[in-house]
Amino acid sequence: MFENLKPIPADPIIKTIAMFRDDPRENKIDLGVGVFRNADGVTPVMAAVREAEKEIYDQQVTKSYVGLTGDEVYNEAIADLIFDDSPARPRVRAVQTPGGCGALGVLTAMLHRVAPGHRVWLSDPTWGNHYPLLQQGGFETRTYPYFDPEHKTVRGEALLDALSALGVGDIVLLHGCCHNPSGADLTPAIWDEIAAICAKNGIFPFVDLAYQGFGESLEADAYGVRALASQVESMVVASSCSKNFGLYRERVGCALMVGETERVADITRDHFLAAARASYSMPPDHGGAVVARILTDPRLRSSWESELEGMRERMLQLRTRLAAVLRDKSGSEDWNFIADHRGMFSTLMLDERQTNSLLNDHAIYTVVGGRINIAGFANENQIDRFASALMEVSLPVS
Ligand code: LMR
Repeated sequence: MFENLKPIPADPIIKTIAMFRDDPRENKIDLGVGVFRNADGVTPVMAAVREAEKEIYDQQVTKSYVGLTGDEVYNEAIADLIFDDSPARPRVRAVQTPGGCGALGVLTAMLHRVAPGHRVWLSDPTWGNHYPLLQQGGFETRTYPYFDPEHKTVRGEALLDALSALGVGDIVLLHGCCHNPSGADLTPAIWDEIAAICAKNGIFPFVDLAYQGFGESLEADAYGVRALASQVESMVVASSCSKNFGLYRERVGCALMVGETERVADITRDHFLAAARASYSMPPDHGGAVVARILTDPRLRSSWESELEGMRERMLQLRTRLAAVLRDKSGSEDWNFIADHRGMFSTLMLDERQTNSLLNDHAIYTVVGGRINIAGFANENQIDRFASALMEVSLPVS
């Protein structure tokens, strides 16, 4: 059965986890996989999560199945967090999933049942795992212009022009906030224009919202989803609690569907559940139970929101600091974009020689293209060392 299989390259992000762990160099710095770290270099269990887990441990009396939709309290709370009082909210149906990838994968499977001939448009660049997720689901993928590698900003006009040429039969995958890998986000004005184009041309929006609360705020990071929902008749969103609740390994996310009417939304959810049943069947309970408690208990919720705000502020401070150190070392304003980007990532547009040199000569882990995880810096000393290494690898090769 397997004897003719050819070796395949490891996922470039996941492989950094094991490489970093096994690297004996004491001065190593991990700017690879997207996990938040505090000043001690630790990815903490959030205080509200710990409390909710204790309550669950004390009160849970069974491990019997919860059901295909997962925890309904969780589903409604996530739908409120994302859509709030959007006029589309009554037409939203939410289903708990194993992580954001569970939502992306099953939404893809469901969309392929409904619209097998559609094409999916991905931003250039996009998170590397979007390609296999969409392609495994049977879709042909194309790209739309997104990131300007020279100025490290969004190519707003080119993006809007490209979308204007699309129509019925096209699904556009958009990053709700904290664009991965570039770090360059859409402005509210561009979101409004995208929403208008999607509505006018019949383009179907598919939003990946993996970092709500990591960019500007819980509210501002949902702007794009709400703008789309106010104009289009139907859309889907894949959300994740890996980052904003720090629940990475618990695998908790949510698939949200907006239907043309409430009845259509119910039927759409049933199609999603059929696709989930044929995949992982039912989502794991624990992460959803934790989030449901946090979001519905005012005390836990306020503890979570303020800890999340602290994490966001830390990332912004690290951005400001890194941009300033690079400005000093390079004597140029070229690196200011790092302070303007949002979320965990910035893509520095480094080539393979440069990322290999960072890894081999400086023990600094980045992802292909020079994507760095800002939250990977533990302290100013590491920022300084990274900035010096970056200057060194940026010198022209003699
Ligand atoms: C990342 O982009 O580093 C994270 O989303 C983790 C992952 O699964 O790739």
